[in-house]
Amino acid sequence: MNDKNIDFYRKINIDKFKEIARLIGLDTKVDIDLIYPYIQSSKTLVELGAGYGRVIGALSEKKFEGQIIAFERSPELMGYLKTQFKDKSFDQKLTLVESDFKHFSLPSKADAVLWLWSGFLELSESEQAASVKHIAENLTPNGVLVIEIPVEVKHIGTRTDHQRIKVETDWGTMDAYMPRYEELLMYAEMAGFEGVERIDYATATHLKRSIYVFRK
Ligand SMILES: C[S@@+](CC[C@H](N)C(=O)[O-])C[C@H]1O[C@@H](n2cnc3c(N)ncnc32)[C@H](O)[C@@H]1O
Repeated sequence: MNDKNIDFYRKINIDKFKEIARLIGLDTKVDIDLIYPYIQSSKTLVELGAGYGRVIGALSEKKFEGQIIAFERSPELMGYLKTQFKDKSFDQKLTLVESDFKHFSLPSKADAVLWLWSGFLELSESEQAASVKHIAENLTPNGVLVIEIPVEVKHIGTRTDHQRIKVETDWGTMDAYMPRYEELLMYAEMAGFEGVERIDYATATHLKRSIYVFRK
């Protein structure tokens, strides 16, 4: 399913992308404020699907000191990321990788893997389970995987049944799968995580969302 969604992000206009962040209330980067205590001391942090650089920008503002490896497969978004973060002192800490994160390999293991703003939903059920396992294998012994997803779907996407979401826009369509909490716990167990901490929160535009911190 994830492979079929690629055009959506190849064709999205950057201003539109940022406008959707504002509508959802993620432009304030509240999610990064909430997870920062868990990732602050990470030496190596991986971001899966960097988009227009919202998370990288937030980490830069917070003066994050670790190394960041950010994957983004859309060449158009990668081109934009390079213009945003090139030639800044922060650039030394940042490695931008234009590649599909489903099969990523790392030079050494990561202390934190971030999968924010619903990116996890863009994978089918089997892809979700396999990805959580793959990430667990690439984490240090005390590493964390942080997944952020909506509780309610609004502004972009509608539910076609309880767990399936269809996003239809002027520039393309995307399919998504909303895992139940029990499914997330099952993925965690199958991957060998010790536990999952759940943080429920609301954005400035009153949307309910959840953060899951998977701990090894
Ligand atoms: C909803 S955006 C999230 C952007 C960013 N993480 C944030 O929180 O602002 C999802 C991003 O993941 C990227 N993406 C989706 N599947 C991917 C894959 N298999 N490999 C690399 N990037 C992917 C998309 O191109 C898009 O930029």
